[in-house]
Parts: sequence; structure tokens; C-alpha cells
Amino acid sequence: MASIKRIGVITSGGDCGGLNAVIKGVAREAYAFGIESVVIPNGYAGLYNLVELEDVVLLNAERVSRIEASLAGSEAGHSRVKISKIADPNRYKRIKEGLKKFGIDALIISGGDDTGSVVVDLGTHGIPCIHVPKTMDLDLQPYSVGGDSAVNRIAIFARDLKTTGLSHNRVLVLEVFGRYVGHTALRGGVGAEADCILIPEIPVDFDVVYEHMKTTYFNRVMRSDVKAGTYIIVVAEGMKNASGEELYDHSAGVDAFGHKKLAGAGKYIRQQLEKRLKSDPEVKEFMRKTGMYAPGVYETPEVREVTPGHLVRSGGSSAFDVNFGYRAGAAGVLLLMDGKAGNTVVNVEGKKIFYMPTAEAIKQRGVDIDEIALFESLGTCFGRRPEKFGYESVEVKGSVHRHL
Ligand code: F6P
Repeated sequence: MASIKRIGVITSGGDCGGLNAVIKGVAREAYAFGIESVVIPNGYAGLYNLVELEDVVLLNAERVSRIEASLAGSEAGHSRVKISKIADPNRYKRIKEGLKKFGIDALIISGGDDTGSVVVDLGTHGIPCIHVPKTMDLDLQPYSVGGDSAVNRIAIFARDLKTTGLSHNRVLVLEVFGRYVGHTALRGGVGAEADCILIPEIPVDFDVVYEHMKTTYFNRVMRSDVKAGTYIIVVAEGMKNASGEELYDHSAGVDAFGHKKLAGAGKYIRQQLEKRLKSDPEVKEFMRKTGMYAPGVYETPEVREVTPGHLVRSGGSSAFDVNFGYRAGAAGVLLLMDGKAGNTVVNVEGKKIFYMPTAEAIKQRGVDIDEIALFESLGTCFGRRPEKFGYESVEVKGSVHRHL
């Protein structure tokens, strides 16, 4: 590839924490090598329409200093547009004209699996791109910027729910983003010591959830000197029931990438628990014993669902994501300079930049359910009969796998 003079930065898919650090990492590393970087605004929609823009924002030192890396979201903007789906037979030609107009030689694109598939697609059309992994869902092969921020926010939301849950003795169901994998629900739920965590990788048996809820919650209220107790369930939006049926509301429609909008798992769980609470003869006795029973008004504990939605990826970026974003953005520039277009940044460890083909990096990675039995042995319910943790002890020789 001819030498790179100007890089276009794109962020695409759902926004999240750490993206501004990616942008700054790209801009500052490029600048260090005398390469300019510019923002291509609003994801692939902006790339497609680049040729019609009057100007692009140059990420010079002054402009970059105005971007706050510790804030989530992206200064470059987002859209859920897949280039191959744009109804224009000249779409790739138009993109190339846009890149030529602004002297852009290559792209650094941060996004998830759909974004990555476009990176591969653009590569086959002769547009050199490096992919920086980004998704709060954490469903790519490498770590993706935004995951840690989302996990931390979910943990805070679930923990904070306990104050209102305890005040009203309610069972609370927190439905969180994460699409068809349960990484964020699992890590956020464990982070908040949620009582029950339901993830798409484990189809849910509601009788098991009910029994666990009843034992845990009833005991909590009964043992409390002020008769207070709550029970927190964190559920991933893409959860399935024991027959493998997806539980979200199918009327919610699709986004511009063509994916179903997931919503409704929390409501479904509430209904399942309410049904069982109403038909369980022991519940009235529990309400009486705990002094809560009010005939015709308050005969069963209340179950409520809470859906923070986009809040789980809004607000602040975790320090971990700022660290990862900075490093991955900078590494993207170095890989481009090394002629490694078509690859995804995996990590920077010491002086090594790890990368892999984008087509491989975007293969979906679910939760390793072998680990779930460990949390079950610690008392958390995962909507199935607890399994024994079948572990193996492995001695590490030499260097330890590094996370930071
Ligand atoms: O893929 C990231 C994600 O936050 C998912 O967890 C969620 O289902 C989806 O995006 C929501 O997307 P949108 O912002 O388009 O509503």
C-alpha cells in the first residue's frame, strides 16, 4: 500500500464507553507519525454520503483535546447502516469518490460484528480498513471496548435497585442489553450480587427460578427485624425459555442493520413469577406471618421489571475502557502502517500488538457456561437445577495472562 497520509475514523453500530478514547488514540498516534486523521461522521451513513460533505473535521491537537475520553458515546457519531444493504448499485464507487475527495487513504473503524462484516466487505472492494473491536455486548472473539463500562453500570443499577426493593419488599427484574449473549448480565449481575441471573446461553426453567426466589426472598423477609427483603434478578434481553423460545416482544420491529429489537424479557419473567405467586397456597401464610397481608389489596409480594435500556451504555466510560480504547486506537494506526488492513486489533501487551483477521474476530462468542456452576455453588440461581462445578487445577508456568 502507498504511504498513508490521512486516516478516516468511523464508529459504527451501538455507541458505548471507551469510543472517544479510541478516536483520541488514533488521532494522537497518527499525529506522532505525521499522519492526519479526520472524522467520518455518523458511521457508515456518513461514509456513504462523504462525497456530499463540504468538509470533514480534522483531528488536530486542539480538536482532540476537546474530546473527553472518560465520557461514553462517540464524538464521531453512529448509525446502523450496512453498506451492502444500501439501495444504490454505485455505493462502493460513491464511497471511493468521497474518500478521494478528502484525500483519505485508509479507515480505522470501531464497531461490533455487523460493523466488522462491513470492514471485510470494504476490504474486498479495495478500501483498506483496520477494525477496532467495540461492543458493550462483548460477543466478539477479542475484548471489545465498551464492555467493561456497561458491566459496571449494570452492577450499579442492580445494586441501587436494592434500596427501593428493600423498602417495598419487591422482587425486581432488571432487563439489560446484550443481545443474544449474557456477558453483561452475568458480569454486572455478579458485580451486584444479584440473586438470579438469566442469560441466553441457559434456557430458563421458571419453576427453578420461582423456588429459588421463594426460599431466598421469604427467608430474607422473615429473618429481618424490620421485615424487609428483596430479590434481584438480572436478565439478558435475548433470554430463552426451557423450550428454546425467545422471550422478547416480536412486535418491536427491526433496526437498520435488519436485527430484531429485543425487549420484553423482563415483563415475561414478571408474569411467570406473578402467576406462580398467585397460585401458591404458602404465599398467603408468608404474607400473614410477616405482617404484610392486606385482604383484597396486598395478598402477594409485588414483582416489577425495570428496563434501563440505553442507560447501560450511556454516561461515563470506565477507566479500563479508556485504557483499552487508547491502546487499541493507537495500535490500529500502527497496524495500518504495517500494511495489516483487514485485521482486528486484539490487544497490546508490552511491545506486542496482537491482531486477528476481522472475519474471525467477529464470530460470536457466548458465555462459557462451564463457569456458571461455580457461581451456582455460591448460591446464585441461573434458571436451571444447579450443576456441580467440574474444575481442573492447572499450574501456570512462566508469565501470567495479563489483563491490564
Ligand atoms: O449491540 C449493542 C446494543 O446495545 C445491544 O445490546 C442492544 O440490543 C442494541 O444495541 C440496541 O440498539 P439500538 O441503540 O439500535 O436501539
